[in-house]
Amino acid sequence: MSAPIVINNPRDMREWTFQQRCAGQTVGLVPTMGGLHEGHASLMRESAGRDDASVLSVFVNPAQFAPHEDFDQYPRTFDADLALAERIGMDAVYAPTSSTMYADDYSAYVKVEGLQEGLCGGSRPHFFRGVATVVTKLFNAVLPHRAYFGQKDAQQCAVIKRMVRDLDFGIEIVELPIVRDADGLALSSRNQYLSPEERQRALSLPRALSLGLDLMQNGEREIHRIDSAVRDGLADLDIDYIAIVDAVRIERLVEAKGTVLLAAAAQVGATRLIDNVKYTIPDAGDRNASGLDSRYSLSV
Ligand code: PAJ
Repeated sequence: MSAPIVINNPRDMREWTFQQRCAGQTVGLVPTMGGLHEGHASLMRESAGRDDASVLSVFVNPAQFAPHEDFDQYPRTFDADLALAERIGMDAVYAPTSSTMYADDYSAYVKVEGLQEGLCGGSRPHFFRGVATVVTKLFNAVLPHRAYFGQKDAQQCAVIKRMVRDLDFGIEIVELPIVRDADGLALSSRNQYLSPEERQRALSLPRALSLGLDLMQNGEREIHRIDSAVRDGLADLDIDYIAIVDAVRIERLVEAKGTVLLAAAAQVGATRLIDNVKYTIPDAGDRNASGLDSRYSLSV
């Protein structure tokens, strides 16, 4: 297996993609901020299996961090990330420099109204503008046929899908399930900030969501009951939000119906963690349907 080619600017990146496209190859993109783990690896494996040419992007995007957040502390492990990309069989790694991405007088931003305002957008108002903008820039540089995102960031997936639809990007967005540690904690680049004691406490997050999922699977449709079960499960943590929303529109539900996104964010010590489950309410009358997409199952 040969090492992926590393490309640092949008002009060279587009040139590389043009060559692939001219040779009739499909191009897949896995956008990341590096600090790679098995969650990222699952996205890369899917692209390596489906696309003729697969690109990993690694860029810690300053536009999605507020000044008080962990931009400086964010893990930067480029050599290990490159080695993982090589083992998986990625063809190119796009790692633009900050100055290539954001000129001193940079001023163009992408906003996806509505979807980006609640949940993580409520506590991190700058966040989705930064994400939508950088993903647009990555799409314009890599010009992929497909791009891969994790359900771990379910609201981010919804925002990107809406942006791609509304702005006619013509890129297929593939959303893949959350990869978890054996104890149920969703993998995250930020888990490495946790002390052993905090990591243990963080397990309340998947466990509380699992309680909410069980309730829905057992027929509970009252949002306030699901919410209070999850809230009780998170009593040991500093809750940022618990949201029970429509998974596509990211709008609060009065009653559980359609595909429900049950998401939570909590502060564990100095670290903010997010997690979620999705559940499709079975059609009335379909008694055997569990409604749970097995790929989204959560056992903790
Ligand atoms: P990052 O946090 O590095 O995540 C990159 C991709 O990996 C995202 O699509 C995220 O949902 C996915 N991912 C992270 N943890 C995962 C897990 N445990 N299981 C499955 N997938 C997981 O998300 C970003 O970077 C940035 O916002 C980005 C889209 C790159 C824009 O800067």
